[in-house]
Amino acid sequence: MRLEVENLEVAYGPVQALHGVSLRVDSGEIVTVIGANGAGKTTLLRAISGLLRPKAGRIWFDGREITGWPPERIVALGLVQVPERRQLFDSMSVEDNLRLGAYLRLRRGERKAVEEDLHRVFEIFPRLKERRRQMAGTLSGGEQQMLAIGRGWMARPRVLLLDEPSLGLAPLLVQELFRILRALREQGLTLLLVEQNARQALRIADRAYVMETGRIVREGTAAELLADPILQAAYLGGASSSIPLPSSSTEVAVHARFTRTAASGDAAMGEHGHGGDDASG
Ligand SMILES: Nc1ncnc2c1ncn2[C@@H]1O[C@H](COP(=O)(O)OP(=O)(O)O)[C@@H](O)[C@H]1O
Ligand SMILES: [Mg+2]
Repeated sequence: MRLEVENLEVAYGPVQALHGVSLRVDSGEIVTVIGANGAGKTTLLRAISGLLRPKAGRIWFDGREITGWPPERIVALGLVQVPERRQLFDSMSVEDNLRLGAYLRLRRGERKAVEEDLHRVFEIFPRLKERRRQMAGTLSGGEQQMLAIGRGWMARPRVLLLDEPSLGLAPLLVQELFRILRALREQGLTLLLVEQNARQALRIADRAYVMETGRIVREGTAAELLADPILQAAYLGGASSSIPLPSSSTEVAVHARFTRTAASGDAAMGEHGHGGDDASG
């Protein structure tokens, strides 16, 4: 099994967002696309999912060209994008949200397999098990993100596409999330993971692509890119830092404070820092 994107061009009216993007994802891999805000990562995933129609280029899955296919047909092939958190059904329980992820399978009569997968999700996400009867809308942001991933998994994907799953999560939850992604891969899943949190993504990925203003500017094994001095300066906050880059504006303040505190050992440090500047130290 292979997902392959070849010279993809996508435009929003006069604004071209992807310029000849090519990449591949092989069976059992975790491949990450890292890049700053606005680089074109979401556009790339939406084009692969069939939600955006490319103006040029081709997408292949499992030896078949799927360029221009409608999203339902692409999902049915097993290429599943994790829904955004806001697409959860707030007034339905955790468990019912998960079942909804398998609605195509339930329609095909796979009731027993779906129940088995529900158990599997609860093994991988113990937090969701504890909260199975709780309304999705009452979960914390991190729990909702896990529910969204669990729901994607319930479709029995062959490749799961994830758009910045760590966005806005507190550092501890980010760790848990990446641990879960690794566990999903051990279950046989292939992952295409788009992230601004470059360091964490590279730590779990096999291979990676770096995207800047709609182009792939670097590719290599995750280990190569983690060790690359240019990348370290641009995306990884310096070689010595073991603290993940902030992945959203809300996390910047927390990150800056955490960095200063770690450096100075002063837990009482105030909150009125000057933002991301500290990340380079
Ligand atoms: N619906 C849209 N209409 C017009 N331009 C868009 C739209 N969505 C994204 N863009 C533009 O396309 C570029 C890539 O955006 P996006 O794929 O969201 O980047 P990323 O996910 O890497 O932050 C940006 O310049 C963005 O402003
Ligand atoms: Mg995006």
